[in-house]
Amino acid sequence: MATRLLTAGRLLQRSLHGSGLRAAARAFTVGAARRPLLQAARRNLAGWRFLATAATAAGDAAPEPRSYPYGPTSVSLDPREVAITAAPGAANSWAGDLLVLGVCEDAFEAPAADKEGPTAIKSDALKALDAHLGGALSDIVTRYEFKGKAGSSQTVRCGGGSSAQYVTLCGLGPRDKLKVVADWGTSPFQQLGACVAAAAKSAKAKSAAVALLDSPLADADAAGAAGKVANGLLNGGYESTRFKTKPAKPTLEKVELLFAGGSDAAAAVAKGAALAKGAIFTRYLVEAPPNVCTPTYMAEAAAKIASEAPEVMSLEVLEKDECEKLGMGLFLGVSEASAEPPKFIHLTYTPKGEVKRNIAIVGKGLTFDSGGYNLKAGAGSMIEMMKFDMGGAGATLGAAKALAHIQPEGVKVHFIIASCENMVDAKGCRPGDILVASNGKTVEINNTDAEGRLTLADALLFAQNQCGAEAIVDIATLTGACMIALGDGMCALYSSTDDVAAAVQAAAKAAGEKVWRMPLEDSYMEQLKSPVADMKNAGGRLGGSITAALFLKEFVKTDKVQWSHLDIAGPVWREKEGGATGFGAQLLAEWAIGQGNCTPRAATMGWPWFVIFLQLASTALAGLALLHAPRLRLGAIAWVALTSCFIWPLANSYLNLHYGAEVYPSSRSAGAASAAVAGPTLCAFANIILILMLGWTAAK
Ligand code: BES
Ligand code: MN
Ligand code: ZN
Repeated sequence: MATRLLTAGRLLQRSLHGSGLRAAARAFTVGAARRPLLQAARRNLAGWRFLATAATAAGDAAPEPRSYPYGPTSVSLDPREVAITAAPGAANSWAGDLLVLGVCEDAFEAPAADKEGPTAIKSDALKALDAHLGGALSDIVTRYEFKGKAGSSQTVRCGGGSSAQYVTLCGLGPRDKLKVVADWGTSPFQQLGACVAAAAKSAKAKSAAVALLDSPLADADAAGAAGKVANGLLNGGYESTRFKTKPAKPTLEKVELLFAGGSDAAAAVAKGAALAKGAIFTRYLVEAPPNVCTPTYMAEAAAKIASEAPEVMSLEVLEKDECEKLGMGLFLGVSEASAEPPKFIHLTYTPKGEVKRNIAIVGKGLTFDSGGYNLKAGAGSMIEMMKFDMGGAGATLGAAKALAHIQPEGVKVHFIIASCENMVDAKGCRPGDILVASNGKTVEINNTDAEGRLTLADALLFAQNQCGAEAIVDIATLTGACMIALGDGMCALYSSTDDVAAAVQAAAKAAGEKVWRMPLEDSYMEQLKSPVADMKNAGGRLGGSITAALFLKEFVKTDKVQWSHLDIAGPVWREKEGGATGFGAQLLAEWAIGQGNCTPRAATMGWPWFVIFLQLASTALAGLALLHAPRLRLGAIAWVALTSCFIWPLANSYLNLHYGAEVYPSSRSAGAASAAVAGPTLCAFANIILILMLGWTAAK
């Protein structure tokens, strides 16, 4: 059966045909085959809504019934827009609803140790503004004892003839510690953005402006900070209201960032906003109940991303029969007990220019995990929370959404999700069954609740074998053990090498998300030994997050592919932050962007090897000339001098610059430094031998 490819052309065709369901359906069909199709996304007056029943092409049989027809039917995936602009401006001439001032601790003065009394304003700029705002700032400082501590904030109504209605002071902490990107967790400027969102909500502000007092930033940092504020503002303003019939109406419409300007700031704000929109897309998916967010709905969400950026995104959704042909026994074995059809989602971002790097993001997409026959039972099993078991897939699509906006250069990204449910049914997988993966490996299912790793295994194989990914990050709500180990504030990171881990850690830092590296302790593979099959799917209670990662590693050619695994079981959901966090979307997008700037791998570059070969071969030839052709001796000496002093060092530093450690795979983990040394050292040795031979022939 033909694979359905949602390409730019077909999407165009679809939009030309307007919003008709038939047209939308036809757009998903390739060739003569007319079969039930992906539930089509359709525009209506209220924005995008997903049809609850499957679309069919003309003359087709009845649509696939919904398994749960009694839930919400129209669930938007579009966030409210807030217009954010960045242009330098004076805080005291700004007119609008809410003025937010980011201030460091040194703007305030504590009373002398021997004196009583409140903290006072020290900064002249703040004093001047205080007069303009009718004493509102001194009110904040004296009445609320505001001192500029990081994370603290206070809003008051402005007095007198102030042109701003409300003013908020937001503490940025000590000036000398202030950084645009924090070493660990969210940036202080993301926090400032969140503070703006919260203050705007409580003051019911429509318009807001943000200023930094006494410019705590170097000019070069202002654009980056503006991007972080925009990001924090949109993320912080998120509220889960889509399933309430009387949601509180958000008011904020436009925000001016008065401390930054120029095209750098505009680009940074656009990037910060795109990342936030990606994370919000993730939150929409994760918070949606399992009777709304089914595997089909996940495929529709991917279709929406593709249809909004058809110039760079294309979508392929493999149905059950196509997965069967690829032998995805682990994925389909998990899905078997479900009434919802499984969907294998493959969304691809192709950059406009040259493709230098081909990577994949693989997300666990269990739209509900009951545990299967190993049912999640009893207090603490969290079965009612298992709608978030597609959090990895949600983050994967969130990253895709962000990248569709940002459109980074040089990197092709495959977003891969084997989406299904883990249910209980007579035809479901039994504990003890042996399933066969798409690479032929046999797995004894000793626990049907260790299902995520099974779906991921076939998805990881697809990323390697069908997409040829050079680097893969998988992301999954994989183990309860991981929550026990690291809590809900951070995710576990497992990486095949130190370099690969460093790249993910750098991306996490840039995104303001916390990851903690964990060991891939090979000896624990003992726990996954099966007496009858190649391996079991579940280990014991000890080191559960590690054995899950080891299981995945069995399906990755780690000598060829740079692989990392993120276990987000903890941070995917935090009740005190309103539920779905969107964790991972921004991190993954930053990782993909970083991969576009990174050096290509050995496999894609024949010519650096050719240059190294040339070095060795020509040195050997010069040696032969010295030995056997006395008349060429002068030329050979000149060649050796020229190459050892000039050509080879240059060639090697060029190669090192462009390809780094990748040229010398054995030195990959040691980093670029050893690569810089390896090539020239080889040539130096060859030249020393030549010089010795020279002396020897001269002496003869
Ligand atoms: N989706 C769960 C992991 C999970 C549990 C995430 C609780 C967040 C909160 C996963 O499929 C699972 O059930 N894992 C088992 C593995 C075990 C059977 C080896 C677990 O963690 O208990
Ligand atoms: Mn499970
Ligand atoms: Zn699960």
